[in-house]
Amino acid sequence: MTDAAAVAANDAATLTIRDNRTGSEYDVPITDGTIKAADLGKIRTAEDEPGLAVYDPGFVNTASCRSSVTYIDGEQGILEYRGYPIEQLAEKSSFLEVAYLLIKGQLPTKAEYDAWVHEITYHTFVHENVKGFMHGFRYDAHPMGMLMASVGALSTFYPDARNINDADNRHMQIVRMIAKMPTLGAWSFRHAQGKPFVYPDNDLGYTANFLSMLFKMSEQKFEADERLVRALDVLFILHADHEQNCSTNAVRSVGSSQVDPYSAVAAGVAALYGPLHGGANEAVLRMLKRIGKKENIPDFMQGVKDGNERLMGFGHRVYKNYDPRAKIIKKACDDVFEVTGVNPLLEIAQELEKIALEDEYFVKRKLYPNVDFYSGLIYEAFQFPPEMFTVLFAIGRTPGWLAQWLELVQDKEQKIARPKQIYTGDRTLDFVPASERWG
Ligand SMILES: CC(C)(COP(=O)(O)OP(=O)(O)OC[C@H]1O[C@@H](n2cnc3c(N)ncnc32)[C@H](O)[C@@H]1OP(=O)(O)O)[C@@H](O)C(=O)NCCC(=O)NCCS
Repeated sequence: MTDAAAVAANDAATLTIRDNRTGSEYDVPITDGTIKAADLGKIRTAEDEPGLAVYDPGFVNTASCRSSVTYIDGEQGILEYRGYPIEQLAEKSSFLEVAYLLIKGQLPTKAEYDAWVHEITYHTFVHENVKGFMHGFRYDAHPMGMLMASVGALSTFYPDARNINDADNRHMQIVRMIAKMPTLGAWSFRHAQGKPFVYPDNDLGYTANFLSMLFKMSEQKFEADERLVRALDVLFILHADHEQNCSTNAVRSVGSSQVDPYSAVAAGVAALYGPLHGGANEAVLRMLKRIGKKENIPDFMQGVKDGNERLMGFGHRVYKNYDPRAKIIKKACDDVFEVTGVNPLLEIAQELEKIALEDEYFVKRKLYPNVDFYSGLIYEAFQFPPEMFTVLFAIGRTPGWLAQWLELVQDKEQKIARPKQIYTGDRTLDFVPASERWG
């Protein structure tokens, strides 16, 4: 399209709606490929009747915000944070630099980066009382439940966090939360194992310190293999944001009440806890273990194609192409297995992928490996129990949740989240007191 044609098309960017109930016609402006729901609300059959609304359970075709954090093109398999391709960030950046990019919107100078790393490193400790109440959980408490409760509880330690209109205050809480999530996550893990909590080691980098808090025993210093540190750092980068997914929507929805960011992020952790969101990599592992050996693959695949079950770790609501994160994780597998030895389930996963990428059933439906297909294998190689997989996801996603929260609280167009409903219940019944109903 020429420039002139583009301008003309833009000028004509309206939608004409004819309401056959009344014969009225409406011109509704189209902006950025969307129409305003409020414009539909002006379409009504009579002054005192409710306006037209959109029915969209799960918000599958509703834009809830304007955002400049993350761009996804599911058809092409593209994921960018603040415009930078995920492949380049995973290869050349670090998790803390990516966190800075997501929160601040641009890459840091050397001085900014050093100050950021310093601030985060020196906020990794939590109040001793946090330790006290984490000990109060049952011996078999799920670490994700512990993480959710303890992040929410931080709001009681930092009551000033509710001052969300002050930029310096917001910055302070963001630093605290990114810094303390690994401490809370590691302590949830240690609690389940009946092991003493390990305090942060501020000589170590973000991810190395996390591994130390997870695995250190009596040694003076825990130094994880650099290749493992890097692989986990990359996994954090890959999970750092994914635009308006379920947990981010939860953070924004709860945050829209202007509550403090700890409470809003606790809502994000809660959403991630659910099996439809954060639990798929665990399901992949269970599937691979059930298949057990390569010879069982053909029968399993036939079952999938007959509709008896799904090939877990395949398919995505947004990606209708190879999930770019899956490609990077597949490469990270090699580095991790070089240190830990190959997980025998890898061979089964690779064979499943090879078959699926050539099989008409999967090709026709545009089903490709997603981020969860290989990540469970890596986490297992680190000796994380499956309950910890989602905790790792939550630590990685924290900068994304906070970047989206920051955008929300500064966006003048945002309002408290309050969707409409289509009421399907009874109306105007006459209440009969219990004494009369029960005779
Ligand atoms: C992620 C997922 C929920 C996306 O679902 P969706 O976009 O709503 O897609 P649908 O459920 O409508 O599936 C479309 C078609 O592909 C099939 N399909 C989707 N995922 C499939 C899978 N993993 N294995 C086999 N078939 C699958 C469906 O049966 C459906 O086939 P049909 O048209 O013959 O009925 C879905 O692909 C899935 O369940 N994947 C496995 C779980 C998983 O890995 N989740 C992690 C996501 S990060």
